[in-house]
Amino acid sequence: MALTRSPKTSARGVVQDFRAQAQRRRRLQKEIGEGVAFIPTAHEQLRNADTHYPFRFNSHFWYLTGFPEPESVLVLTGGKSPRSILFCRQKNMEREIWDGYRYGPKAAQQVFGFTETYPIEALDELAPSLIAGQPKLLYPIGADSSFDTRMMNWLNIVRGKVRSGISAPSEFSDIRGLIDEMRLIKDRSEIRTMRRSAHIAAQAHIRAMMATKPGMFEYEIEAELLHEFRRHGAQSPAYPSIVAGGANGCILHYIENSAPLADQSLLLIDAGCEVDGYASDITRTFPVNGTFTPAQRDCYEIVLAAQLAAIKAVKPGALFTSYHDAAVKVLVQGLIDLKILKGPFARVIESGEYKRFYMHRTGHWLGLDVHDVGSYSLNGKARRLAPGNVLTVEPGLYIRPDRAIPRAFWNIGIRIEDDVLVTETGRDVLTSDAPKEIDDIESLMSE
Ligand code: GLY
Ligand code: MN
Ligand code: MN
Repeated sequence: MALTRSPKTSARGVVQDFRAQAQRRRRLQKEIGEGVAFIPTAHEQLRNADTHYPFRFNSHFWYLTGFPEPESVLVLTGGKSPRSILFCRQKNMEREIWDGYRYGPKAAQQVFGFTETYPIEALDELAPSLIAGQPKLLYPIGADSSFDTRMMNWLNIVRGKVRSGISAPSEFSDIRGLIDEMRLIKDRSEIRTMRRSAHIAAQAHIRAMMATKPGMFEYEIEAELLHEFRRHGAQSPAYPSIVAGGANGCILHYIENSAPLADQSLLLIDAGCEVDGYASDITRTFPVNGTFTPAQRDCYEIVLAAQLAAIKAVKPGALFTSYHDAAVKVLVQGLIDLKILKGPFARVIESGEYKRFYMHRTGHWLGLDVHDVGSYSLNGKARRLAPGNVLTVEPGLYIRPDRAIPRAFWNIGIRIEDDVLVTETGRDVLTSDAPKEIDDIESLMSE
């Protein structure tokens, strides 16, 4: 059958280059040392009846391969003669007519640069011989019970042969720990993709601001976001978009997006896209009718000042917790100034009373997963930021109706979220195209 596209060309018609993935495999092989690692991709998931969810690869597998097909397993050996082996689906004319192109082992080896490739059907037969003689076995332990079972079967086959002089691994470790550490520092190719993802998401927020008018429904604005994501080639949203008008802005994970947008209310949009696996994650909050009320403006200015202070605290060498602390200080002082909280400042910080209005952390790692992998602490202490880290900075204020608080503040839910790359000298805000200054928002919405 004629190929529908050249194996080196992605569905978007872009010539692909997998040198970065090959380099990551080599780095991981060095970390593994003498041993063998198995890294399977995700399973296809049924949505209902015979309909599947769109397939999303496993992020670790993707990081090391760039290989997009389900039913694939990467095997790496370290030590003196490192091998990088892909098991994948065979070519299949019938299935390709129905479902689309498959690389097959031969093209996969050539395009992705594996040392060897085999049909996925050969995995059960070949795995024991790959494990035999290795002192150490690594795989995502406990991530997928069917894979755990297969792994134990392979291991027991090898153990059954020890009397014939074959040794079985005695050291077992979760491969995810090593990959998580690598993924914390984004390489050049990742940063390029993350910039694209951030840029597209920022354009989507601009489009949403320009489209919003009182009386529209939240889902209409969600449709504007989706339109902008897809028209620039993002494959999907990175997570369900939050389009939350008025009181819904105080529900942190509101995703119904079904309510009408009232005049004089705020609209909180937390939406990002996924580009070639990489997430962006932006929140903007703006007035539905294009002009902040005085109470909304007061609260917005506090959140914005907190966000700017937090962004400034993001720099190499800083503790991961320091930008959260910077944001909390500004938010608490602001709440005291507005008489929503009663001072003194130190007591409000100490008691955690502010958590009624700010109950989440100020950010998280960002990458292939929106809440990306990588530990936030080392040896019980907060981790220090390093060039190549990408994180979100997302303080907020959420004021639910409360008779002790002036009515003008009720149902104000504000969050401002940007994606920030730690650089050698400080930081780079990847999502700065999305307006967040009050004047910039009001003037964009009046166009
Ligand atoms: N959109 C998920 C988050 O902001 O963490
Ligand atoms: Mn978000
Ligand atoms: Mn976030």
